[in-house]
Order: sequence, then C-alpha cells, then structure tokens
Amino acid sequence: MQTLAIGSLTLEPQIAAHADEMFVVLSDPAIYEYENEPPQSAAGLRERFAELESRRSPNGSEQWLNWVIRLPNNKLIGYVQATVYPIGRAAIAYELNSAYWGRGLARQAVQVMLGELIARYGVKQFSAVLKQQNQRSFKLLQRLGFALATPAEHLRAEVERDEFLMLRQVEASERGAP
Ligand SMILES: CC(C)(COP(=O)(O)OP(=O)(O)OC[C@H]1O[C@@H](n2cnc3c(N)ncnc32)[C@H](O)[C@@H]1OP(=O)(O)O)[C@@H](O)C(=O)NCCC(=O)NCCS
Repeated sequence: MQTLAIGSLTLEPQIAAHADEMFVVLSDPAIYEYENEPPQSAAGLRERFAELESRRSPNGSEQWLNWVIRLPNNKLIGYVQATVYPIGRAAIAYELNSAYWGRGLARQAVQVMLGELIARYGVKQFSAVLKQQNQRSFKLLQRLGFALATPAEHLRAEVERDEFLMLRQVEASERGAP
C-alpha cells in the first residue's frame, strides 16, 4: 500500500501504531448515529489494526485496505477503507470524526482512494452499503458519482431492508484506456 495525498490531506496505510490516536478519533458518538459502535478500548483497536496489517481477509482471497487520514497539523481525523475482490470490484467505507464534517474532507479522501483503487488495484466497479437514513453518506456517494442500485441488485446483494446499495462503474477513460 502507498501513502496518498490530496489537497491538504495525507492518507497513510493504517498500522497498529495509529491505534491510540484513532481510538480518540473514533470514540465520537456522532459517527454511530445510524450503525456500528465505538471501539471498546485502545488495546482492542491496536490488536485489530495489527491483524489488518496483513491487508488480506483470513482466507487470503480479498484485499482489505485501510488508510488513516491526516491533516497538515498532524492530527488524524478518520479513515477510508476498501475491500477489493478478485473480480475487479471493491466495496468502500469511511468514517470521519464529526469535528471535521461539512468541509469536503471526506469527499477528497474517498476520491483519492478511488483513484488509487482504479490505477493500482484494477477496480472496475465500486459499491457501498449505507443506512437509508444516512443522508450525509448518501450525498457524499452521489457527489462521487455513485448511483442507487436497482431493486434486483439490492436483492442479489442481500442488503438489509433499511439499507441502500450504491454503485459506481469505472469509465474506460478513467482506467487510462483509449
Ligand atoms: C459520511 C461522512 C464521511 C460524510 O462527511 P461530510 O463531511 O458530510 O462529507 P463531505 O466531505 O462530502 O462534505 C460535504 C459537506 O461539506 C461541505 N463543503 C464545504 N466545503 C466543501 C468543498 N470544498 N468541497 C465539497 N464540499 C464542501 C458541503 O457543502 C457539504 O456540506 P452539507 O452536507 O452541509 O451540504 C461523515 O458524515 C461520517 O463520517 N459519518 C459517520 C460514519 C458514516 O456514516 N460512514 C458511512 C457509513 S456507510
């Protein structure tokens, strides 16, 4: 994995040494308004991050890529992540501490990750699953070119009834094809 940069942001491949600071970043209750829970301890998060340094699912078939997002003042503000499947598809997710919402920073961070996934991991289709009530995430994905999947695609992907599946196809021009 490579370090990525966009605007004032640096995205660093996530490692166990990020866990103590990320524990504080991810302890923000606003992040969990629609789903998931904050990490229980910095030690638990460190263990999880150490496992994720393999960058692979336990059976080795998927690439699990996580980048932490750093500001020029050295503060970490959140992360972006991708699960890359062998068939050129990737599922993405992201979380920022709410002190940094509303500034277009998530958009920049996800955008640079999408570019990296296209250029270096051969991704041709992106997906994201979100709670239907999560308007901020919905708007972010729309701004990044994702569109709501069809009812048939929702069924096939077995998303929950209160969730949306959003998809984005990679254009040939984005892959550097003529
Ligand atoms: C989802 C999440 C990352 C979105 O963060 P965000 O800051 O709203 O997203 P963006 O980076 O796209 O910023 C958009 C906002 O910044 C504003 N903005 C300010 N300057 C901007 C700029 N230069 N460029 C783009 N947007 C800008 C936009 O107007 C918009 O504000 P609005 O929502 O009031 O219209 C954040 O809400 C989050 O971490 N939520 C908790 C975790 C979560 O739900 N994850 C997703 C699970 S599927």
